[in-house]
Amino acid sequence: MSATETTTETVPVIEGPKQPDISYHPDEAKFRARTARRLAEDPTLPQRPLPEGFPPSVEGPGVWEGKDWTDESQWVYNLSDEQLQEVDRGLAHFESLDKPLGYITRDTFPLPTLSSELGKLAEVLYSGRGFFVLREIPIDKYSRRQLAIVYAGLSAHVGSERGRQDGTNAVLAHIKDLRVSHAHEKGGIGNAAYTTDKQVFHTDIGDLIALLGIQTSAYGGVSRLSSGGRVYNEIAKTRPDLITVLKDPWPLDRFGGDPPYIERPVLYNEDGHIVIQYSRRHFTGYGPQLRSPNIPPISEAQAEALDMVHFLAEKYSLGLNFQKGDIQYINSMGLLHARDGFTDEGEKTRHLVRLWLRNDELAWKTPKPLQGVWDKLYAVAPETQRFPLEPEIRRLATGGTK
Ligand SMILES: [Fe+2]
Repeated sequence: MSATETTTETVPVIEGPKQPDISYHPDEAKFRARTARRLAEDPTLPQRPLPEGFPPSVEGPGVWEGKDWTDESQWVYNLSDEQLQEVDRGLAHFESLDKPLGYITRDTFPLPTLSSELGKLAEVLYSGRGFFVLREIPIDKYSRRQLAIVYAGLSAHVGSERGRQDGTNAVLAHIKDLRVSHAHEKGGIGNAAYTTDKQVFHTDIGDLIALLGIQTSAYGGVSRLSSGGRVYNEIAKTRPDLITVLKDPWPLDRFGGDPPYIERPVLYNEDGHIVIQYSRRHFTGYGPQLRSPNIPPISEAQAEALDMVHFLAEKYSLGLNFQKGDIQYINSMGLLHARDGFTDEGEKTRHLVRLWLRNDELAWKTPKPLQGVWDKLYAVAPETQRFPLEPEIRRLATGGTK
C-alpha cells in the first residue's frame, strides 16, 4: 500500500449531526425501531430519574382518556331558543354602536343570562376536562360580518383577550383547503391546516382555541383531542429519560425567519400544570416547506420523544364530529389536538374559523420561555384587529407565510 493511499484512507470524514429519519406524518414502524435501537445502545434509559420539578404523575379532571367519555352530551352545550334570541340582541346592540369589530367585548356584546353560563364553561376549560362544544349557531341566518360579530361576541364571554393569528393583526383565521384557490402561493403551502391532509397531534400557541364550523366536509375530518396530562403520566412512568428530553430546549425552525431558529422546551411544569406546547412541523417541516438545512437538527432522542408524544396522544384521544354551527373550545395548554384527513365534495367543503382567546381571570401561569410569544400574541389593540371575512393564508409581518 502506498503512502498516498494510506493518507487518503485515514483522513477522517467529519460530519455534523444529521436530522433523524423522521417526517411530519409519524411512522410507527420507524418509531418502534428507533426506540429499540436507542434501548439497545443504552438499556439504562428507562431507569433514569425524572428531572427536578417533574412529578411521577399528575391527576385531576384534565387527565383523561378518550374511553372515559361515552356520549357527546357530556361535552356539548346546546343553546336554547331563548339564548339564541339573547345572542341576536347582543348582535343588534353591537351593530347599533357602529364600532370596528375589534371593539367586541363582554360589554359591547352583552348577554345578560348566557354570560354566566359561558363563564362556567370557561372554568371547564381551565379547571375541568379542557374542552366543550357550543351548539348550534344558525350560520345561514347571518351575513358573514354578522357571523364574525356573533362568534367573537359569544367568545368574549369565554375569554376576553383575542390573539393575533399572524403578522397583519388578523384575529380570525380560516381553516380550509386552500390548495386550489391559493395555488399561486410562493413556496407552496407549508401547513396541513390549509389542505385536506391529516393534521398530526400538536398544540396551537396561546391559551384557548375556538373553532367555528361554517361548513363540514363530505367525509372524514374528525377532530381529535387528547389530554397532555395523560400523555405525560405514561412517559413519566415508562420513559422518564424522555421527560428530560422534552423539558430541555429544542431547535424550532422559523422557515427562513430571522433568527432562522429559536430554542425552547416542548414540555413545562408551571405552577402544577403540565403544559405540552409544540407543533411537529417546526421539527420536521411539512410538504414543500422542508426543515431548513442551515439550522441544528433535532437529536435521535428528540425524534423518539416527538413520536412517543404523538402515538400516546393518539392512543388516548377522543374523536369529535364537527357539525355545522358548532363552536369547539379547547384549552391548548392542557390538551393536544389533531384532525383526520377529509374529502370535500361540492357544497360540503370543510370551513372552520379560528379565534385564539385567553381568560385573564382564570388563566394558568404562562411558562417563562413562552411569555414573550404570549405577550406578542395578545397585544393587539382593538382598533388594529383585522377580521378577514374570507379565507386567506396567514402572513408574517415580513410578508412570508406561516
Ligand atoms: Fe391546531
